Amino acid sequence: MKRNPIQRIAIYPGTFDPITLGHVDVVTRGLKLFDQIVVAVAENPGKGPMFDLDTRLHMVAESFANEVRVEAVQFSGLLVELARSHGAQAILRGLRAASDFEYEFQMATMNRRLDAELESVFVMAREDYTFVSSRFIREIAGMGGDVSELVPAPVLHYLS
Ligand code: PNS
Repeated sequence: MKRNPIQRIAIYPGTFDPITLGHVDVVTRGLKLFDQIVVAVAENPGKGPMFDLDTRLHMVAESFANEVRVEAVQFSGLLVELARSHGAQAILRGLRAASDFEYEFQMATMNRRLDAELESVFVMAREDYTFVSSRFIREIAGMGGDVSELVPAPVLHYLS
């Protein structure tokens, strides 16, 4: 059987303020399904991120420095436009718990309305990361707590 030469590309968007091992787990699972994953760091000024866009991008890029199939980019416009410009067929997102579903469902439905060709694909987070969120990481690190088992090693010095 002839193999299909088409590259399967997914965009994995987020604020990544900062990137956590939960996010890394989503990318690792996504790499089983896609040839290439573009991790897209959103400017997202509405969320009032703790780290500026460049710093968040650096944290993501450093976390995947050894993975040639992962590219880190930043963006400030519509996700579907970024996906088109990278030739992506899918948006990758992780689900931790039922509480994530409502927001993800709304976002996936809106993105489908904006681009019916782009599929949203969800992977389930590893059990030990279901409670990990960037918000908790910021809070715990800000109060001097240990987050070394919850974020990629390169992120630690940005939090200290
Ligand atoms: O990790 P987050 O903060 O939940 O990520 C949210 C993100 C960045 C995926 C979402 O805000 C987004 O896609 N922003 C880009 C603007 C856009 O395309 N909005 C329409 C989709 S609802």
